[in-house]
Amino acid sequence: MNSPQKIQVPSAATAQRGRPALRAAGQSQPHESARAQVEGAATYIDDIPEVRGTLHAAPVCSPVAHGILRGVDVSATLAMPGVRAVIDAGDIPGDPMLAAFAHDEPVFALDTVQFVGQVIALVVADDAMTARRAARQVLLDIEPLDAVLSVHEAHALEHYVLPAVHVKRGDAQAALRRAPHQLEGRFEVGGQEHFYLEGQIAYVLPLEQNQWWVYTSTQHPGEVQHWVSHALGLSNHAVTVECRRMGGGFGGKETQAGHLAVWAAVAANKLRCPVKLRLDRDDDFMITGKRHPFAYHYRVGFDDTGLLCGLDLEMLANCGFSADLSGPVADRAIFHADNAYFLEDVAISSYRCRTNTQSHTAFRGFGGPQGVIVIERILSDIARALGLDPLDVRLRNLYGIQERNVTHYQMKVEDNILEPLISQLALTSGYRERREQIAAWNANSPVIKKGLALTPVKFGISFTATLFNQAGALVHVYTDGSVQVNHGGTEMGQGLNTKVAQIVADELGVPFDRVLSTAADTSKVPNASATAASAGTDLNGRAAQFAARNVRDNLAAFVAGLDGVGAGAVRFEGGQVITEKRSRSFDEVVAAAYANRIQLWSDGFYRTPKIHYDKTTLTGRPFYYFAYGAAVSEVGIDTLTGESRVLKVDILHDVGHSINPALDIGQIEGGFVQGMGWLTTEQLVWNGKGVLSTHAPSTYKIPATGDIPAHFKVDLWPEANREDNVHGSKAVGEPPFMLAISVFEALRDAVAQAGGKPEGMNAPGTAEEVLRAFD
Ligand code: MTE
Ligand code: MOS
Repeated sequence: MNSPQKIQVPSAATAQRGRPALRAAGQSQPHESARAQVEGAATYIDDIPEVRGTLHAAPVCSPVAHGILRGVDVSATLAMPGVRAVIDAGDIPGDPMLAAFAHDEPVFALDTVQFVGQVIALVVADDAMTARRAARQVLLDIEPLDAVLSVHEAHALEHYVLPAVHVKRGDAQAALRRAPHQLEGRFEVGGQEHFYLEGQIAYVLPLEQNQWWVYTSTQHPGEVQHWVSHALGLSNHAVTVECRRMGGGFGGKETQAGHLAVWAAVAANKLRCPVKLRLDRDDDFMITGKRHPFAYHYRVGFDDTGLLCGLDLEMLANCGFSADLSGPVADRAIFHADNAYFLEDVAISSYRCRTNTQSHTAFRGFGGPQGVIVIERILSDIARALGLDPLDVRLRNLYGIQERNVTHYQMKVEDNILEPLISQLALTSGYRERREQIAAWNANSPVIKKGLALTPVKFGISFTATLFNQAGALVHVYTDGSVQVNHGGTEMGQGLNTKVAQIVADELGVPFDRVLSTAADTSKVPNASATAASAGTDLNGRAAQFAARNVRDNLAAFVAGLDGVGAGAVRFEGGQVITEKRSRSFDEVVAAAYANRIQLWSDGFYRTPKIHYDKTTLTGRPFYYFAYGAAVSEVGIDTLTGESRVLKVDILHDVGHSINPALDIGQIEGGFVQGMGWLTTEQLVWNGKGVLSTHAPSTYKIPATGDIPAHFKVDLWPEANREDNVHGSKAVGEPPFMLAISVFEALRDAVAQAGGKPEGMNAPGTAEEVLRAFD
């Protein structure tokens, strides 16, 4: 962000030794929408010109965490000028339950309410403000029932949204018995609000013959299509969903966007007119799910060198009132409880607890962060117990190359670069010297104390549900030689469309600005997976590459025929099509090919190879490869107020051969800062009645520019992906988020150096939490 390294971004490409000469890909191409975004000319859903007769909806939400819905009185609401209707479950022509995987969530609350914020009905009016005001006039008769608000209470009562999952390797109990030392700990890690800048929104338009057009800000247009058609009792083909871009999703628009689309569609269907539903920010906080808060209990054994000897870990995921994506999120936490370390004898139990709160959902890292944070904490605590440097305990436990290289879910770690990557970062960041400097500084500073930590990340890339690892794309070359690419992925600011356009430009040998990415649209590429699991470019980039290659092959065969050479000898470079006989402009070749009735457009399809995984035992190879990284963070705390600042951050991260270093560094910086927010200031507080009291930026503090460390250095690891992935790249969207765990560990280090008790600290490490460590 304000780091000088950012300006030198293009030079990061020079660090990428040994890669082939690339043209559009491999360069720091600006984001395809950057200019339009800063000019205010990039269209978000609320910017789309409204169709005549559009009505606006607002939700009626439950003020009670758990209760029986006895009655809804809408007479005062309907009497208000401008109010058109109140829509509820009775207006749903199809299934009153959402078509979510677990099928456990009503579209509108039926006879009970299950959290404060649950949507009971919609008020539809001529304008949005009238609808919102009128929604507050609805009188609800709710008989309160006991609400389960804490994850511990839910676990004690065995209230779960899904069955528990247990993963074991070796014999954790026997290892613990023979371990020279043992530690036991309990702690909690809070959830996180997505705080996308563009809030949740859907705009539904009736087309002819009971067909529907849905504009929505979603990471998963195909699922919105499925949910809307299911609620309206129609076939999928009657519903088309379009999303040009999101103003941020971060996992919060993977399933949650579907709810809004269904609500708006039910209203549009009842009233036979276009309906827009745009949530007020406070309502967005109250209604939609967040990152899962977790609670942990562990017992760990270790020897004098800090080597792990037995880990027994219990993880309680607070899932909220329904399953949503809690199953795969809690699974990914299990898959990442090892992070970078070999766990020889381990038993993990994961409970998916049902509470009367929002239904928690995907959020950058998708449970991975909630897994990684446990083992990083444990290793720091072991180091402190033994008086060793935490970095040495980490290095002692890393996955090996020849042995100690199989995960607790039986996947061999084949692409391990942890040791060289960590060692290099320790060196370039001056970790060892700074440890001594900080100890010396702390000895002379009575109030302000500093702390330092290095933590790595190893993050598995692929959807754990193997079937989602497929993608399609369409490449259209028009007669003037300009190109459109469309794929099943969605743009949420991460730069997916830019990378895909770079890949297509290179495949056709044309300049980047000849390729235009178009809106995600279920009528172009069907059955697309969510843009999630960081796999957007891996999947859609490859599918688009294959589509472009098909068109190129058609053109190559055509030109080869003209020049009497082999098709393999035709090169596409710099906007030219070149054979040994002559060079023609791409545009000229395209025009001639069209005149000769050559197909100038194609589809492409990709599925990730090698992966397989057994859902019942959680074993196999769920991930195609791992993305690696490490961060060193230095923090300062004020021991009188508990306030803290992140002072210095050095990151070395592995994106393989970067397709776009500027975008990748942006993802690393953004992911890190978002993780920093999760672990420092972003605290969600539900009061004793289950009301989320932190439901606006006034009470919920995300990082601002002023929180970004003055020293923020990001370097890219130079090696290509060892697996065959598009242009040798690796996924980057989520892995850097977990690098911020170094901030939390640095905070705990500072607390320890100041004589406080880091073992009891929960996340986020707010000022209150830091002070509490000195009680
Ligand atoms: N970056 C921006 N700017 N906005 C976002 O919403 N979402 C993150 C990450 N980076 C997000 C982002 C999440 S949760 C994921 S899974 C990936 O982007 C998804 O995109 P990709 O697969 O193309 O990396
Ligand atoms: Mo990201 S949590 O996989 O949308």
